[in-house]
Amino acid sequence: MILWVLIVNYFFCAQFVNGHLEPIGYGTPLPGKRAPSGSVWPKPLYRFSTNPMKAFSVDTQAFEIILLENNPTSSCTLLDFATNHYTNLIRNLNPKTGGDLSCLQIKIFGDCVQDEYPRFENTTEENYQLIVTEGYPSPVAILNAYTPWGALRGIETFYQMIWSDESENETFYVNQTDSLVDEPRFIYRGIMIDSARHYLPEQTILKILTAMMYNKFNVLHWHIVDDQSFAFVSQSFPELSKMGAYTRKEIYTPEVIRRIQEAARVRGIRIIFEFDTPGHVAGFGKSHPEFLTPCYDEYQSIGGINPRRASAINFDPSNEDVFEFMEAFLQEVLSVSKDQYLHLGFDEVFLPCWQTSPRIKAFMVERNYTSTRQVLGYYINRITEIVSSLGITPIAWQDPLTDGVELDKNTVIHFWMDKPGYPRYEEALKSGYKVLQSTCWYTNLIKYGPTWKDYYECDPVANAELVSYESQILGGEATIWGEFVDQTNIISRLFPASSAVAEVLWTSRNLKDKTDDAMWRLDQFRCNMLRRDLDLN
Ligand SMILES: *[C@@H]1O[C@H](CO)[C@@H](O)[C@H](O)[C@H]1NC(C)=O
Ligand SMILES: *[C@@H]1O[C@H](CO)[C@@H](O)[C@H](O)[C@H]1NC(C)=O
Ligand SMILES: *[C@@H]1O[C@H](CO)[C@@H](O)[C@H](O)[C@H]1NC(C)=O
Ligand SMILES: *[C@@H]1O[C@H](CO)[C@@H](O)[C@H](O)[C@H]1NC(C)=O
Repeated sequence: MILWVLIVNYFFCAQFVNGHLEPIGYGTPLPGKRAPSGSVWPKPLYRFSTNPMKAFSVDTQAFEIILLENNPTSSCTLLDFATNHYTNLIRNLNPKTGGDLSCLQIKIFGDCVQDEYPRFENTTEENYQLIVTEGYPSPVAILNAYTPWGALRGIETFYQMIWSDESENETFYVNQTDSLVDEPRFIYRGIMIDSARHYLPEQTILKILTAMMYNKFNVLHWHIVDDQSFAFVSQSFPELSKMGAYTRKEIYTPEVIRRIQEAARVRGIRIIFEFDTPGHVAGFGKSHPEFLTPCYDEYQSIGGINPRRASAINFDPSNEDVFEFMEAFLQEVLSVSKDQYLHLGFDEVFLPCWQTSPRIKAFMVERNYTSTRQVLGYYINRITEIVSSLGITPIAWQDPLTDGVELDKNTVIHFWMDKPGYPRYEEALKSGYKVLQSTCWYTNLIKYGPTWKDYYECDPVANAELVSYESQILGGEATIWGEFVDQTNIISRLFPASSAVAEVLWTSRNLKDKTDDAMWRLDQFRCNMLRRDLDLN
């Protein structure tokens, strides 16, 4: 009885303190629950502290990130970029000297292969553990990881754990953390950029890669050519960019691509190129009009699309030269690409164009096809075979499935029209396809207000029925199509909105905050990103 009274009293007091004695200020700017200082975005799997309020001051000026050598003969140069980058970020926080915590020690348990490119076949590749605790004579911060990729994710988390007391003589702190263990939910967490509708300079792409690293994104899907321009410089077919790029300068030479690939690699990001065919090929057509199907006006009433528009133009699958060219071209692309995936597009093929072409009509008679969809299927199968025979996994936008074209079961289906839980998304999973989700994450679509909330509330596993297919869901991508986006606004359009996507793809669903609470943590992360300089090396 007495105990019970005490408990009631305790709650009463607590309520009293919260409700009346503590000044409530002049209203909070956001609903939801304020996130504690030094919170992390995306939210980690597990964070435990016996004394979570114990804060160690950081000696920013003397701070060092030290890689403890597991095997002294194999130094991990892959992490040189990150250790320099984050050491500079920490030193740039504050000119003040003094503080208790002056280093982060990293230990990698597996091998660190110097020139390795990330593959991310298993979420365990990115896991890590962080410990910040009392030590003698001063507190210690330790980061354990199996791979350098896990270490990269852990360094980012450590940086986010550093918070400012915002006092006149600003001091930075990291709280005691007995164990923070983290691992992503999905292996594939991407951003799609479109450098065809507007050319994106190398420096802009490097900034995007840095911001992606801050968000633990690990895939840059590069939609590099389209109707509007062909900026990829091919060694075998130099005419493609000579005639297809906007100007002689707005191109991606092999050297530029190599630098971007290296920048991505040291940030733990893979680059997946997209070469979209048989639609969206006016860029190819600038130098190779012979590969295109001429469209005829008669179908104007069918499609309602002006056949003279580039978006109505397709390759001509009745022309064997198209396949000979594509085989040679894709071989070159794959020698440039360091990845086991290649995005083949296959979207928005304007079938009425084929329907009116005498050449395609003759080809259909020859092959006993009754529908242009069969022509599309024929093209897709041949291109997929080329790529698959080279050991590469093809990715395709969902359109062929929508058009009733049977895709190779090895193809990853990238959804942009159907949300998770909609019939075609479910059908694809039930038919055994691996999928990627982007439908809810079109960051180029402008809407007034906090668009990130919609992104945050969309989950690739939309309902209980999809849970059993979770292993087929590789992850997803936030897309930023380039029609109204260029180097002047792409960063602000991508971040922090797509940070919501980063958390959906990283954080276990059952750990996710209510959106209103997440808003406070995102707000804190936004400030954390703003205090950094994306140009920093
Ligand atoms: C860190 O400690 C400070 C007080 O020293 C506290 O205000 C803050 O909420 C703590 N942060 C976390 C993430 O626990
Ligand atoms: C990932 O790797 C771990 C450890 O090697 C293993 O136990 C697990 O089965 C793997 N998961 C998948 C999906 O391959
Ligand atoms: C800030 O530091 C300066 C120089 O050390 C000192 O004179 C001043 O009193 C400090 N201000 C506060 C609010 O602690
Ligand atoms: C088309 O059909 C005819 C008659 O059934 C058949 O002889 C021919 O082999 C078929 N052609 C193809 C390419 O399947």
